[in-house]
Order: sequence, then structure tokens, then C-alpha cells
Amino acid sequence: MTLSGKRILLIISGGIAAYKSLDLIRRLRERGAAVRPVMTAGAQQFVTPLAVGALAASRVYTELFSREDEQDVGHIRLARACDLVLVAPATADLMAKMANGHADDLASTVLLATDRPVLVAPAMNPMMWMHPATRRNRATLAADGIRFVGPASGEMAESGEAGEGRMAEPVEIVAAIEDLLSGAKPLAGRKAIVTSGPTHEPIDPVRYIANRSSGKQGHAIAAALARLGADVTLVSGPVTIAEPAGVRVVHVERAEEMRDAVVAALPADVAVMVAAVADWRVASAAGNKIKKRPGEAPPPLQLAENPDILKTVGHHASRPKLVIGFAAETENVAANGRAKLERKGADYILANDVSPATGIMGGDHNRVKLIGRDGTEEWPEMGKDEVAERLAALIAAKLSA
Ligand code: C5P
Repeated sequence: MTLSGKRILLIISGGIAAYKSLDLIRRLRERGAAVRPVMTAGAQQFVTPLAVGALAASRVYTELFSREDEQDVGHIRLARACDLVLVAPATADLMAKMANGHADDLASTVLLATDRPVLVAPAMNPMMWMHPATRRNRATLAADGIRFVGPASGEMAESGEAGEGRMAEPVEIVAAIEDLLSGAKPLAGRKAIVTSGPTHEPIDPVRYIANRSSGKQGHAIAAALARLGADVTLVSGPVTIAEPAGVRVVHVERAEEMRDAVVAALPADVAVMVAAVADWRVASAAGNKIKKRPGEAPPPLQLAENPDILKTVGHHASRPKLVIGFAAETENVAANGRAKLERKGADYILANDVSPATGIMGGDHNRVKLIGRDGTEEWPEMGKDEVAERLAALIAAKLSA
């Protein structure tokens, strides 16, 4: 009984997936947890408080302004007298309320008043899940420290539409709770190296060749790995974003410096090469500022190839168990990504389309294809933080396998 003695406050909001909450309650109790349910008005349209209360062997709380409920425990105690607040299913509406701090019913008030860890299992129509408003809310909640499980891809119960939005299965939710409450850090004791940002290749002391990489994706991955307990070395090119917490940052400018810093950080269990490394440097950068002289032709720029850091790591004698790269493409994204996997000796390539129309380069969102040796997985558009979280979870799963 791995959840023995744990008190779970289960908030059920109004979606068809509420029927799965009944099975969820049964499984939580089988593992020894005590479940105290809160239901929104919407939830009661899908399952009855009678059924929920019977399975939970508990009173069901539904009203914010109920004299009886308030005398029994009161909404503040309800919010605090538990080890975890679980929202399953979480509708788009409840997520929006949480992200904006609304407190106009018992469920949202409890969520605003709690100081306990909160785990959210979203369930909604795929279009609603993909809507920019829901994307924003999800990112806000993640930044607030709220944890997520799912949603999964599949067919929707009501519309038959396919896509992401189906609530995670009760077994997965129980596993996520066990992880969260055990405080287990699945990457504890593991070493990770992450590269991020652009490189600056000097032309002379004041000019350089660069690219539009912001470092947002690489920094988010370093942060996500650190949150799972990894010892992270982030080798970053020049960026203007904040350094992630709990990560060792090595600042570099040029590709060759980045390669040296990465090789110096080996051995490691995983390397994630996200930096947009310049393919070429200026063959011999001028020691002094190149002067413009009247009547003279512009100076020619002779380029030399930079080291490929991902390839170096992928073929290194101390190659990490997992080597992961990114592929920023503007055409034939999947085919180019797959070729890169082979050429660079990587286990996974996350390929994305960085055509200007996508707004990915420098933006907060990303849409990637995860290309592995055993196939390709398309991830829907999501925040760079969410891509990072998913990738960190995948890394944890692969390293423990
Ligand atoms: O070949 P391409 O630049 O598209 O490959 C992208 C992947 O390779 C990224 O993971 C990037 O960080 C890595 N890379 C590298 N060193 C280079 C060029 C790319 O590590 N010189």
C-alpha cells in the first residue's frame, strides 16, 4: 500500500472523463489513501455526489457558501488538511480559473487557498486543449509549480475526434501521485550536459556572425532536468534570458569554446545539444577592427568549418548513454531529422520547422517531431517549457530502463 495514510483532496470538475474519477477513487483507496472529494457544479452533471461519496467513503463537498460544509471543515482547512490536491478531470474552464486566481466556487477557492502540492489531470476536447488560451494557462500553471499528468492522445468519448485531450488513465494518475509524494527525483545521481543559445563567431574585435536563437528551449530543458534531480551543466552561448535555477552554467561565445566546455564536462549520462551552433567561423578573425577605407572594396570573409559538437559527443569514447540533438529545418523536416540522427550518432533528434511563419525561433512555443531509432512521434504545439518537461520525463524513463 504505497499511499498508505496519505490524504488526497480530489477535485472533480465537469467533463465526461468524470466517470473515470470513480475508478480513480477506488484505486487510490486500494493503495491505502484517504480520499476527500470536492465536486464542481459541472461535475455533478456527469456523476452523482452519491456515487462519489460511496466509493470514497467520505462526505462530498460541493458548496462554498454552505453552513453545513463550513461547519464541518471549512474551505481553508479543506485546502490544507491533505497531502496533495488532485484535480481529475481538470476542464479548460477550471484551468483558466486557476491560472487567473479566480475563487468563485468551492473548487477554485480551495485551489487558491492551498499550500499543498497540486497535480492536474486535464481532460478536454483536442481543439480546446490546443487553443492558445489553454496553452497560456497551462504554461502559467506550470510556472506556478503546478504539476501535470497527461492528457493523452486518443479518441474523444463524446465526439470521436482524435488528438490530445483524453484524461490520463487512473493507473497513470496514481503512479504520478506516488512519484510526487515520494519526493523521488528520477534523475538524482545522473549527470546531464545541455547546450543552449547561439554562438558568436568574431569577425574582428567588435563584429561577429550570430543567429536568432534565444536559448529559451535549451535553458528550459536544463531547468527541467535539474527539477528531476539531475546534476546539470548548461553550456550557453550569449543570451539575454535568465539563468535557470539549480544548474551549473558555463558561458561561452564561440563554437570551439562550446565544444571544449562540453568535452570537459564529460562523462555524463545524457547530453542534449540544443544550441544553434554556427556552422562556420571566420577563418582568421582580425585582431583589430577592420577599417573602411574610401575607394577600397569590401573585405572578403573567408569562412572555416566549425566543429560539430553533437557529432563529437555522439562518437566520443565517453559517449553518454543518451545523446539528443535538435534539428532546426525550414523544409523536409522529418527526412532531414532522420538523416541527422544517423550522421551525428544521436539517439533522438527533435526536429522543428523554424520557417519564419512558425514564429518558433525566439518565440515561446515549439512544435517538434521526436525522431528515434524506433520511429517518429509528433508532439502537438506546446510551450517550450512543456517540450522541456516531456523530454526530461522521456530521458528519466530511458535512463532507468
Ligand atoms: O546539422 P545541424 O546544425 O542542423 O544539427 C543540429 C543539431 O546539431 C543541434 O542539436 C545542434 O545543437 C547540434 N550542432 C552542434 N554543433 C554544430 C552544429 C550543430 O552541436 N557545429
